[in-house]
Amino acid sequence: MNQSQAIYFYWNQQLIVIDFSQPDSPRPSTTVLNWLRSQQHGKGTKEGCAEGDCGACTVVAAWPDEKGIMKYHAVNSCLIFLPWLHGKHLITIEGLADKGNLHPVQQAILDLNGTQCGFCTPGIIMSLFALYKKGTSNNREEAVLAMSGNLCRCTGYEPILNAAMSIGGFNTHDHLAETEAEIIGKLEELPEAPVIINHPEQLYIKPANLSEAINLKKEYPQAVVFSGGTDVALAQTKKFIIYPELIDLSGLKELTTFTEDISCWKIGAALPLEEIAKRHNGQIPMFDTFLKVFASKQIRETATLGGNIGTASPIGDTWPVLIALGASVVLSGSNGDRTIDIEDLISGYRKIAILPDEIILEIVIPKPAAEKKFKFLKLSKRRQMDISTVSVAISFTIDNKGTTQDSVLAFGGMSDLPKRATNAEQELNGHPLSESRIEKVCRVLQDDFRPISDARATTEGRMILAQNGLKKCLLHILTLKNKPTHE
Ligand SMILES: Cc1cc2nc3c(=O)[nH]c(=O)nc-3n(C[C@H](O)[C@H](O)[C@H](O)COP(=O)(O)OP(=O)(O)OC[C@H]3O[C@@H](n4cnc5c(N)ncnc54)[C@H](O)[C@@H]3O)c2cc1C
Ligand code: FES
Ligand code: FES
Repeated sequence: MNQSQAIYFYWNQQLIVIDFSQPDSPRPSTTVLNWLRSQQHGKGTKEGCAEGDCGACTVVAAWPDEKGIMKYHAVNSCLIFLPWLHGKHLITIEGLADKGNLHPVQQAILDLNGTQCGFCTPGIIMSLFALYKKGTSNNREEAVLAMSGNLCRCTGYEPILNAAMSIGGFNTHDHLAETEAEIIGKLEELPEAPVIINHPEQLYIKPANLSEAINLKKEYPQAVVFSGGTDVALAQTKKFIIYPELIDLSGLKELTTFTEDISCWKIGAALPLEEIAKRHNGQIPMFDTFLKVFASKQIRETATLGGNIGTASPIGDTWPVLIALGASVVLSGSNGDRTIDIEDLISGYRKIAILPDEIILEIVIPKPAAEKKFKFLKLSKRRQMDISTVSVAISFTIDNKGTTQDSVLAFGGMSDLPKRATNAEQELNGHPLSESRIEKVCRVLQDDFRPISDARATTEGRMILAQNGLKKCLLHILTLKNKPTHE
C-alpha cells in the first residue's frame, strides 16, 4: 500500500503538492473552493451558495481520457474535496488570459455584454471555457446545457447565451492547447495517489482497487463512503459536520466501468453521470431524458448512479427510471458479490438494504424487447437545476392483440420511498391503450398514494401533478403507438 500522504496536481501552470502529514496542512475534506480562496488567494473563484446551486465557484479540471486526449470538465469547487484533484490539471479563472490577452471566451462575454456586476462571471466563463474546449457548434441547446448550473442575477441570460453561441465553430485553440501535451506528460509522471491520509482531524481513505476498498470498509465500519460527494459534501458545507473517517471511491477502476453484452448494460456505481451519457450513446431507454434534467452539468460531472441509489431519496431521479427498467444492483462485500433487484434494495425512508462491509459495485440494466414502451417525466419548478417535485417513469408492452401487459408505473415524490403504483398498473394491464383507459388509470392512482405536503407541493398538488404527468406519458405513447418510445 502506498504510504505517502501527499497529493500532486497542477493549478494553472504550477505544480501543487499538498502533504497532509505536515502539521499546517489542510484537512483532506477541505473543499477546493475553500483551499483556493482561503489558502491560495485564488479569489477569482467565487462563493455563492456553497451547495452546488449557483455555479459561482465553477472551475475546470482536465485530465486525459482513455485515448490520451485531454478532456475539460466544469465542476463545482464548493463540493469537491482536495484529494480528488490528485493527478489532474486544475484551471481557474486566473489561468485563462494569456500575456495580457483575454481568452476567446472572456472576449466573447465582453464583446456581447454578458456581464454586469460580475459576481457570477468567473463561474460562467469557466463553464463556457469547458464548452469551448469540447469543440462546440453554435447550438443553443448545447449552450443552455453547459450553462445549466450557473445563475446570474443581473445580466439576464440572453447576452450570455449569445456569447456562448458565438464561441462555437469547433475551434478549441487557445494558449492552453499549446502546453497541453507537456501537461499530459507531467501528469503521467506524478506519483501515485495516497491510500490513507491520517490527518489529525480526519482519516481520509482512497483505496486503489476494489479488494482494498472492501478490506478498508471492513476495517473502518463507521467510515462514510462516497463517490461523487455531491450529497456527502453538503453535510460539511451546510451542516458543518466534519466526518472523522471518509472512504473515497471516486476513480476506482472496478466501479467506473461501462460494459454491454447481448442481454444487458452494466454501469459502474462510481461512473459519473456525464460519462454515462457519453458511453451509453442514446441506447438505454429514458437515460438521455433524465440526464438532461438531472441537476446541472457541473453536478453530473461528478455525481454517480451509485450515489443516487445510496441516498435512497424519495425524490432521487434515477430510482423510478431504474425500477421501470427492471434494473438490479450488484453489491460487493467481504463475502463476495450479490445481486439484488432494485425494488428490493430500498428498505425504508432514505435506507437501502446494504451490509456494513458492502459497497455498491454496479447497476445492471436488462436490454428490453424492441416493442417495449418507455417514458420518463420530471415535474419540477425549473426545467434545469431543480430537484423533482414528482417524477414518473413507465414501461409496458403492447401484445399482438393490442393489449397492454407487464406495466411498471414508478413514481418519485409520492411516498417516503420511490414506489410503483400497483393499483394503476392493474388498471392498465390487460386492456387496449385508449384515451378512456388512460383516464381510468389516472383516477385509480389516488388509491396508490397519499403524498406528503411540503415546501415543494401540497398533498393535493402532488396528486394532480402525478395524475397529469402519468396522463401525459401515456398519451405520448398512445400517439406514437407503433413507433419505439424510449424517452
Ligand atoms: C445542486 C444539487 C442538485 C442536485 N440535483 C439532483 C437532481 O436533479 N436529481 C437527483 O436525483 N439528485 C440531485 N442531487 C443529489 C445528488 O447529486 C445525487 O443524489 C447524486 O446522484 C449523488 O451521487 P454522488 O456520487 O455525488 O453521491 P455521494 O455524495 O458520493 O454519496 C451519496 C450517498 O450514497 C452513498 N454511496 C455513494 N457511493 C456508494 C457506493 N458505491 N456504495 C455504497 N454507498 C455509496 C454515500 O455513502 C452517501 O450516503 C443534487 C445535488 C446537488 C448538490
Ligand atoms: S458556491 Fe454556489 S455552486 Fe458552488
Ligand atoms: S453579472 Fe451580476 S450576477 Fe451575473
